[in-house]
Amino acid sequence: MTINAGLEGIVVAETDLSLVDGTNGYLVYRGNWAKDLAISRTYEDVVHLLWRGHLPSEQESEAFRAELAARRKLPDYLKTIIAALPPETDTMSVLRTATSAIGNRGYAWPPTFEQASDILAKAPTIIAYRHALNTGRDPIEPDESLGHAANYLYMLHGEKPTRVHTRALDAYIILTAEHGLNASTFTGRVITSTRSDIASAITGAIGALKGPLHGGAPSEVDTMLEEIGTKENAEPWLRGQIEGGERLMGFGHRVYKTMDPRAVALRLVSDSFAGEDPWFDLSVHVEETAVRLLKEYKPGRNLYPNVEFWAAAVLRGVRIPTDLYTPTFGLARMAGWSAHILEQADKNRLIRPESTYVGEMPKAS
Ligand code: CMC
Repeated sequence: MTINAGLEGIVVAETDLSLVDGTNGYLVYRGNWAKDLAISRTYEDVVHLLWRGHLPSEQESEAFRAELAARRKLPDYLKTIIAALPPETDTMSVLRTATSAIGNRGYAWPPTFEQASDILAKAPTIIAYRHALNTGRDPIEPDESLGHAANYLYMLHGEKPTRVHTRALDAYIILTAEHGLNASTFTGRVITSTRSDIASAITGAIGALKGPLHGGAPSEVDTMLEEIGTKENAEPWLRGQIEGGERLMGFGHRVYKTMDPRAVALRLVSDSFAGEDPWFDLSVHVEETAVRLLKEYKPGRNLYPNVEFWAAAVLRGVRIPTDLYTPTFGLARMAGWSAHILEQADKNRLIRPESTYVGEMPKAS
């Protein structure tokens, strides 16, 4: 029997949701280029597309935006749970625990759009609420007049964001909203396939995203740029890393063997900070130098910047604290997780792979 460790290359579902084409560098959400959606639509419109199957009309868009805005506030019991978690709890664990607690209110299989909306709408509030407590500030209640991205920035910073910052964050959360059967999405589908509830499925998905091999890398790009510091230092620093056998954070991808289309789009987005943040210039220089050096040291491996390289520039540009990079990725991916959970429930078959036993047999008695 062939063993496919890591399920690499195994197709376990048909999906209408997205195409991730690593050879051509394509990312398609239900017949739309993700990069086009990132510059022309809001996150709410893209959630509507993923969940309902079509981009919303103006009326549908307004109604869905209002529905999500109305669900943002945290009930008192959830605030108590978030505040009771010990100070050393990282924000991904806070998000995981709070999402699990949302499901305690009688959620059952099959998953519904209302349940999905409730969890997705509350995720930014959970993160911002805990961040305020961690930094000794009074939490800021959500503002229903703002969109999903703008309201998150408002709750984090206490002031309404500029249009440039809102558009930049919207682009980031759109481009990371969905990405096929990655580890966290697959986790959500496995849990749903047992006919468990959507809160359990998303709680499991958050647990999977928390791992450093999946969602934990963008803050490491930030650290790399901090260490490089100046353009002059880029080449010696990068050579030193590669020659020391280290990987360059934000480069290479299991699926994309060409430019990651999300990185291409986010590079354009972060261009909007070019005037206000010298880190943009440094990022451009480090990207060009790293690609050249990776070609020199690793010929034929096709190593290019991935989403995390340019995500770091965008998140830094909109002043998201580094410890919130992965939770922000998580609040974006709520869209894709829920879409897959709804799709799985619609065509459900219990996911149950097999293993080959290589242990001992009982001794003959
Ligand atoms: N820097 C230097 N060398 C690299 C890198 C890198 N970032 N990535 C791969 N390589 C080399 C690797 O050393 C190996 O070389 P050799 O053949 O000489 O041993 C060759 O390229 C193939 O590596 P691999 O481990 O087989 O490639 P993979 O497809 O398993 O790795 C990866 C994918 C993302 C884990 C890897 O590229 C990596 O560790 N990148 C850095 C971390 C990072 O940026 N992670 C975020 C990925 S995007 C997440 C998402 O889409 O959600």
